[in-house]
Amino acid sequence: MKSSGTRQGYGDAARTPRGVLPRVRDPLTLLGAEFDGVHDVWRSTAGTVCVAGPQAARAVLGNRDGTVVDMSDFYRTRHGDFGPRAAQIRIGRSARALMRRHLDARRPELPGLVAELLTPSAVWPDAGNLLVLRHLRDVLVHPDAPPRLHATVEQIVRRSVLAGARRRHSPASRLLFRRRALSVLHGEVRARRRELTGPRDPRDLLDVVVGESEPGADPKDLAEVYLSFLFAAVGSVGFALGWSVYLLGTHPDSPAAKPSWVVREALRLWPVAWLFARTPSRAQDLGGTAVTPRDRLAVCTYLVHRHPGYWERPDEFVPERWAQAPPDPAYLPFGHGPHTCAGATVTMRLLEDLVELITRDRRLTVTHDGAGPQVGPALAPPRFTAVLSARTGCPGRR
Ligand code: HEM
Repeated sequence: MKSSGTRQGYGDAARTPRGVLPRVRDPLTLLGAEFDGVHDVWRSTAGTVCVAGPQAARAVLGNRDGTVVDMSDFYRTRHGDFGPRAAQIRIGRSARALMRRHLDARRPELPGLVAELLTPSAVWPDAGNLLVLRHLRDVLVHPDAPPRLHATVEQIVRRSVLAGARRRHSPASRLLFRRRALSVLHGEVRARRRELTGPRDPRDLLDVVVGESEPGADPKDLAEVYLSFLFAAVGSVGFALGWSVYLLGTHPDSPAAKPSWVVREALRLWPVAWLFARTPSRAQDLGGTAVTPRDRLAVCTYLVHRHPGYWERPDEFVPERWAQAPPDPAYLPFGHGPHTCAGATVTMRLLEDLVELITRDRRLTVTHDGAGPQVGPALAPPRFTAVLSARTGCPGRR
């Protein structure tokens, strides 16, 4: 089963930046320590070519000159890149449209969910993931799908998507669960293929993947692409919400800021999708470093977003910086170029709605034990408790 988060947001440790960076306890700290703020591209001690400069990151991800082999972390499966590209594009468009319809229709539910799941207090980041799961449940698995599929998706979230969830189970138990879960997903993919006799509106994201892929695509690959959606929707969105709440709660004295600024600043400081793997397509010079197709590139948006040449007070939480136009080239929370996130707009809308609902009319208090981020293929916030109480003080302040 995939792990919480990604090869930037979606993958399992077997296929993500794994192999891109050495297996150290905290690859984020390692990269941060290696970056000198001057050399934007360098060969790390482990041999990986790291990219921390905004221009170089955009050149690699944008891939205008065919600098790298075309691929995205989202569509990478155990069997290679899921394709063809036309199917990827169809899937992305159809998923976005489905999400948008769902969010429009279900927006009125959000205040009730916030009250039920987050007040008077909740333990994060799980609380954010579980709220998003509840809100998006019908897009993930339509209500009339077999109960077995509903139960499997719920278990995947609890055992693989939540931050640190994998550590709570032994390797043997994980292997067993993975086999069972994948077999349910494969069975459902086959069943839906049999049902699918012509074009029809997708009922959920599994319909999207089955309906928009090529007829001969391997059901195992379709199951993996579906898992990418599950990890993006519940994992990445939940973590981004967690970071926004964490930063607001740990900066009680910062000036009141619009929810959109808070979400943007949270995704700048802690980009959930923080590391992208790519392979050079030919021998070339990349930002002063010679690379060949044998190299692995690791584009680190965490470092791009804190690059001292582009950001003032790069390590500080300053949501009001978003009142002005941001330095565009240095902000890539949803990637860049042909594989830019298909769900970026719907994600931002949901996050802004939620931050608005959580903070409006409520005072937010966060307690935590000072631990750092939970670093995996995705960047999750540390465990913390957030108390939401009725606001009594001066208006306009959190
Ligand atoms: C905070 C939440 C999210 C973050 C941070 C995020 C981030 C990203 C990033 C960085 C990429 C580019 C990957 C690469 O270039 O290798 C990507 C791709 C993608 N994302 Fe998201 N994502 C999020 C939520 C979503 C959601 C909710 C959806 C569902 C509609 C979604 C669908 C996709 C798809 C389909 C792609 C592949 C695009 C392509 O290759 O054509 N994402 N995402």
